[in-house]
Amino acid sequence: MRRMVAETRVHPADLILPAFVREGIDAPVPIEAMPGVVQHTRETLRKAAVEAVEAGVSGIMLFGVPEDAKKDAAGTAGTDPDGILQVALRDVRSEVGDDLVIMSDLCLDEFTDHGHCGVLDADGRVDNDATLERYAEMAQVQADAGAHVLGPSGMMDGQVGVVRDALDQTGHEDVSILAYTAKYSSAFYGPFREAVGSSLQGDRKTYQQDPANLRESLRELALDLEEGADMVMVKPAGPYLDVLARVADAVDVPVSAYQISGEYAMVEAAAEKGWIDRDKAILETLTGIKRAGADTILTYWAVEAARALALR
Ligand code: PBG
Repeated sequence: MRRMVAETRVHPADLILPAFVREGIDAPVPIEAMPGVVQHTRETLRKAAVEAVEAGVSGIMLFGVPEDAKKDAAGTAGTDPDGILQVALRDVRSEVGDDLVIMSDLCLDEFTDHGHCGVLDADGRVDNDATLERYAEMAQVQADAGAHVLGPSGMMDGQVGVVRDALDQTGHEDVSILAYTAKYSSAFYGPFREAVGSSLQGDRKTYQQDPANLRESLRELALDLEEGADMVMVKPAGPYLDVLARVADAVDVPVSAYQISGEYAMVEAAAEKGWIDRDKAILETLTGIKRAGADTILTYWAVEAARALALR
């Protein structure tokens, strides 16, 4: 009876798998703070994409981890057509075609030696407008490589508009934008920074949002829609369900939530200690995010959860 009258259902197609691919390794490298998640080789990434299709997951969001020696101040590996993210996009596209929505993280932080999401000015501060020029180049190379959707995650002002223009001017009118609309400066990104081998010293407080602010997210939302966002995202998910609910109420485009690395790590760590029922906790977090208004959820549990949901 509970199943019959449930108001909220999570479906495998609601789920998007974030995945990491690392250059120059010949076997997957486990990420310590995210048990069960790895940095993929090009080959194992292909397999992971096929697994995701088979499980009924609808999308994959790719993050590239370059060799350390290829990081520089401008993050040039992020715009090299032969950079790790671009080759991985081509691999996955040739492997699964249109069976999975292939999404690409559009940000410089994995490719810069200082670890920031943009390029720096002479005083060492992130230069918003110079960064936008780099994002325009990234948009083109990622779309050329076969991404269906770009996810600008750097939180620069004007990034959605610049990416939309770059796509339209290079014949990629059909490539969509999933805007990281409300991205908070969060302590829960910790494990992700290990996952991408981040070089960041300091924090991203000058461009990511203050957890105390909700109205600011609605303002970011209006700007992103105006600039051409096709879908919008709230990130992190669990601690920001109120933001998610407000965003979902306010728009008529699909809304995503990103259940981030720290949210994943907390459940896995508590489960490892025997303090929590892992499988129930996972589905409960996803149900809560869906109930708050998400149409789609980026989650590192995507494949496992999709399989579990298919059996219910
Ligand atoms: C930045 C980016 C971050 C995440 C995705 N893209 C983190 C950051 O701002 O350092 C976090 C994802 C996660 O924690 O799972 N390109």
